[in-house]
Amino acid sequence: MKPQEPSHIPSLAELADSQTIENLIERKRRNLEAIFDAVPVGLLLLDENLTVVRVNDAIRKLVGKDYHEIINRAIGHALDCKTIAIEKTICGLGQYCKKCPLKQNIRKVFETSQPVNGLEFQSQTHFQDRALKPWFSLSVEPVTIEGKKHIVVCLNDITEKKLAEEKLLETMELKSQFISTVSHELRTPLTALSQGLDIVLNGEAGKINEKQKQFLQLSKRNVDRLGLLVNDVLDIQKFESGRMKLDFAPNNMAQTAKEVVHTMALTAKKAGIRLSAEIENVSPSVFDRNKIIQMLTNLLSNAIKFTPAGGKVSLQVQNQNDEIVITVSDTGLGIPKSDLCKVFQRFYRVKRPGKEISGTGLGLSIVAQIVSFHGGRIMVDSEIDKGTTFTVYLPRAATVEDLAVVLTKTG
Ligand SMILES: Nc1ncnc2c1ncn2[C@@H]1O[C@H](COP(=O)(O)OP(=O)(O)OP(=O)(O)O)[C@@H](O)[C@H]1O
Ligand SMILES: [Mg+2]
Repeated sequence: MKPQEPSHIPSLAELADSQTIENLIERKRRNLEAIFDAVPVGLLLLDENLTVVRVNDAIRKLVGKDYHEIINRAIGHALDCKTIAIEKTICGLGQYCKKCPLKQNIRKVFETSQPVNGLEFQSQTHFQDRALKPWFSLSVEPVTIEGKKHIVVCLNDITEKKLAEEKLLETMELKSQFISTVSHELRTPLTALSQGLDIVLNGEAGKINEKQKQFLQLSKRNVDRLGLLVNDVLDIQKFESGRMKLDFAPNNMAQTAKEVVHTMALTAKKAGIRLSAEIENVSPSVFDRNKIIQMLTNLLSNAIKFTPAGGKVSLQVQNQNDEIVITVSDTGLGIPKSDLCKVFQRFYRVKRPGKEISGTGLGLSIVAQIVSFHGGRIMVDSEIDKGTTFTVYLPRAATVEDLAVVLTKTG
């Protein structure tokens, strides 16, 4: 308040007014303090020397000290930094201080006036005899108080969230190892079963009659289907765990596509589908041939599977700028608009009441992984009862090094 001039004797009304204003300011100050204290995340107000000017209750509870042991201290001492205690130094001069994420970020905000938001770091200090060094999410905001630069530091204890994330990762790794082991173990006996059935079917183990042949052929088809499913599950596991190794080499896309069309021709014929191909000559490009064959086979077999007899399936391979564009179109059942974005998810299958078509829902998720591992992208467009078009855009790279550059750009 300004000092009153000696000659001026304030009237009762003026006194009452100034007192009301002071009361009001005081009430507001208390309200703000109460809010500051009640915020469930730790808040610290620091001045330019990184000395603590104010803290809230959450910080006091975190360090387990009283306010007078925290206020007017350098941040490291206020927060009871064990590293400076061990090094017997003062906050800012220790070996670790140069790397301390808290100080580094606070300094940066003072220098740049740019806030820091939600930076996660693990504290070097154990608080309140906790066995674990806690994890924090740090936000730092510059503020000006009474014309002087200050910093508001917001420290949110996220240790439990981090522990839950670690546990989840461990569980996922265990699950992934379990699936890989089981799939591997299944593959060997399945191969033996399939080979055994081939020997009996070929009559190498003695003559079989027509009825026996039919049953054995049915068993063989199912054993082979199971084999494909196991391979799909193994592929998904490898892609998702980053253990999938791709064999990138210069290959001919036109040649590869023609081979796949040739292989699928019989399947299409059996299903009463007209399969056509329009394949442009593309210059050699780097890709994993087997994986691209797997991708094209999955897309074409879907197109054939979801198109009723009498329909058409076509494959197009084109050059477009620095990309190879592969289109697989059919005149089949189509996919509802609401399902379009979900068909690439694992095990997702469009519900078709009354006309269920067999499958596991893994094919497209493998296709999406193959495309992404090649630095490409895939689109789908569809209209119910009219047909579906899948378009794959693959970068055209002349050398493995060129592809590596594309892959770093696409992440
Ligand atoms: N060309 C298509 N026309 C209509 N629906 C399609 C087409 N391609 C995919 N779908 C829908 O997307 C779903 C997922 O396809 P995906 O290839 O992943 O699984 P699937 O063919 O059912 O089984 P899998 O390929 O594992 O044997 C399919 O179940 C089908 O409903
Ligand atoms: Mg499929």
